[in-house]
Amino acid sequence: MKISGTTKLIGILGRPVAHSLSPKMQNAAFEAMGLDICYVPLEVAPEDLENALRGLSAMNFLGANVTIPHKVPTAKMLSRLEGAALITGAVNTIVNQNSSLVGHNTDGAGFIRSLNEVADIDFQTSAALLFGAGGAARSLAVALAESGIARLALVNRTLEKALAIERLLKQHFPELTTSVQPPGEVNEELYASSKIVINATSIGLEGDLKMPFVAVDRLTKDHVVCDIVYTQSQETPFLSAARGKGATTLGGLGMLLHQGAAAIQLWTGIEPPMEVMRGAIES
Ligand code: ATR
Repeated sequence: MKISGTTKLIGILGRPVAHSLSPKMQNAAFEAMGLDICYVPLEVAPEDLENALRGLSAMNFLGANVTIPHKVPTAKMLSRLEGAALITGAVNTIVNQNSSLVGHNTDGAGFIRSLNEVADIDFQTSAALLFGAGGAARSLAVALAESGIARLALVNRTLEKALAIERLLKQHFPELTTSVQPPGEVNEELYASSKIVINATSIGLEGDLKMPFVAVDRLTKDHVVCDIVYTQSQETPFLSAARGKGATTLGGLGMLLHQGAAAIQLWTGIEPPMEVMRGAIES
């Protein structure tokens, strides 16, 4: 990559950010697209977030991605939010439009696109079982609702957080059937009637890939099982156990790929080369 006097910058704001695969993936895309853009990791402490955002427009960045722990605080600091960012109150992509920063969220759309790559799902007649109620789960819940899913069961250790997502869904998608339960109360019938089972908890992020509280024995070849935790070299034990039961599986790399591609489309208006991006994160 050549940095010149005209190179434009895009950053990823997070803490920690050093482990992120996004710089490798996005720079590979910009290079293949022949664009004079450089994507840089920016480690930002929570107390510096507001200044960092001002810096993006002061230094004329094209935009940025936003990751843990800044997605929700960023949404509160930007004067304009669009689409899923407006509903979820979380931002993963910023576009600098004439020095005005506009917040978007491509996580949910990225998840649905990666889901459609591995399975042919009729959302209108399907149900989903979603474990977790943090920021990631919120984005997936909204994206599933936007895709027209018939029924969504929300499961979380801290019930109040799942109830908060349910309230949000009822407000924006009144026709959607929802339920909320603690992990211990997910029964056989719920597994059997849910086509999609998702682990959107952060278990596994801390290095040791522990199994989440999903009853793997209840999974079958009819399930599509997703884990948002991404590991570069191997699948999570949860996903390999699900695959062992014959389920179709989807790891977090697909979501990473598609949320990043959707962000590039927002910054440049051009469809990025998916295979180049996929190659960069898998190599
Ligand atoms: P993110 O923004 O990535 O979703 P988060 O907001 O910290 O991260 O949410 C983490 C999710 O993982 C939450 O649903 C959390 O459950 P609680 O709401 O009960 O905290 C879940 N989680 C993390 N560690 C867990 C554990 N050991 N057992 C059960 N759930 C866990």
